[in-house]
Amino acid sequence: MSDAADKLDAYWMPFTANRDFKKKPRVIKGAAGHYYTTDDGRKLYDMFSGLWTSGIGHCHPTIVAAVQKQVAELDYCMGFQVTNDKALELADRVVNMAPDGISHCFFTNSGSESVDTALKIALGYHRARGEGHRTRLIGRERGYHGVNFGGMSVGGMVPNRKAFSANLIPGVDHIRHTLDLEHNAFSRGLPQWGAHLADDLERLCGLHDGSNIAAVIVEPAAGSTGVLPPPVGYLERLREICDKHGILLIFDEVIAAFGRLARPFGAQRFGVTPDIITTAKGLTNGVIPMGAVLVSDSIYDAFMQGPENMIELFHGYTYSGHPVAAAAGLATMRVYEEEGTFAQSAALEQHFEDLLHSFADHKHVIDVRNIGLMGAIEMAPRNGAPGARGGEAHKKCFWDENIVIRNGMDILQFSPFLNSKPDEMQQSFEALRRVLDSID
Ligand SMILES: Cc1ncc(COP(=O)(O)O)c(C=O)c1O
Repeated sequence: MSDAADKLDAYWMPFTANRDFKKKPRVIKGAAGHYYTTDDGRKLYDMFSGLWTSGIGHCHPTIVAAVQKQVAELDYCMGFQVTNDKALELADRVVNMAPDGISHCFFTNSGSESVDTALKIALGYHRARGEGHRTRLIGRERGYHGVNFGGMSVGGMVPNRKAFSANLIPGVDHIRHTLDLEHNAFSRGLPQWGAHLADDLERLCGLHDGSNIAAVIVEPAAGSTGVLPPPVGYLERLREICDKHGILLIFDEVIAAFGRLARPFGAQRFGVTPDIITTAKGLTNGVIPMGAVLVSDSIYDAFMQGPENMIELFHGYTYSGHPVAAAAGLATMRVYEEEGTFAQSAALEQHFEDLLHSFADHKHVIDVRNIGLMGAIEMAPRNGAPGARGGEAHKKCFWDENIVIRNGMDILQFSPFLNSKPDEMQQSFEALRRVLDSID
């Protein structure tokens, strides 16, 4: 065991089975491009590009140089009442990539903060327009919107909510999720079946009256729950129902934005424009924590009233628009443009889909799902031991095959680099097959 692994006792790891992990820690010490280096000197191929974060590869030289330069030039300045040049530039750059009509950008430090910020903006917007009765927030079952109280409340992943059930924020409902193995298992890309599930929002409008609902938040393609692409026509239908009732539509694009769906934003991929977009991860290629909330003109304008010397939104973080994070973001955007990252991502989709679906006939597999460069292979749980098969696959990949995958229980998730090399992608899936063949 390395020195670092020896010291693990103090560290309470996030979203990890700590006791199991500490028996045989998996410690990364370095990275370059598409590979990690472990503390015992092994090179691992990263099939998850960080945590959906690092689409253009680890330690990209353009970002490294920009961060090094920025930290020596302006390490920090307050973001309230003054700002920095990089934050201004990045906000401008990001809204220029956003769907038409999305024109203002509020910076946060994570996806969770983006979501809670977006929910507050939605509530504040209605209040500013004299519709303070619109207080209800609607999420979707199996949605993941981070771990802060707002995001957890509109989120729909049971283990994340269970222990906090009594303290979730009030006034939240959920529409049903879109996975139904009987009707849409093994869909390649968007399932043909399921657009009608958006009508569940009408049910909640009937229950509460649509005029009391502030916003609906969904991931345009759900990620962390195990990749649920939206059924054909589903997002259009949600947009229609929101418009009919004056409800804001929020797309949580913490994963979907910045090329994962071969476009700057998932909204552009699906041709449906929400009122608010939340994002993070690919904004800085994961290099420095940063998130953003993008809003339409009409939302921003609704706040811009009253005495001009008064703060319009009492919200913000010490590190909102952090200059080093913003410099990382600007360098990331430059790489996306100069290297044609979104076109690279588009060109990989078919290969990725074929590799994933080659597992459809595997004895453990009950579904395969994909959209863009997001993918999942769902395995049947082992009798009496849900999650065991997925956990074992993850560990065997790491120790025996030198690849990193992610599992959520028995669902294996894949987030390949947007600039993956097709042969390396293929080899990594061959290694995965050896692992799945070797487990019960
Ligand atoms: C859709 C979505 N929203 C919010 C979050 C939370 O982001 P963070 O972990 O940066 O707080 C995530 C993280 O994976 C996400 O996928």
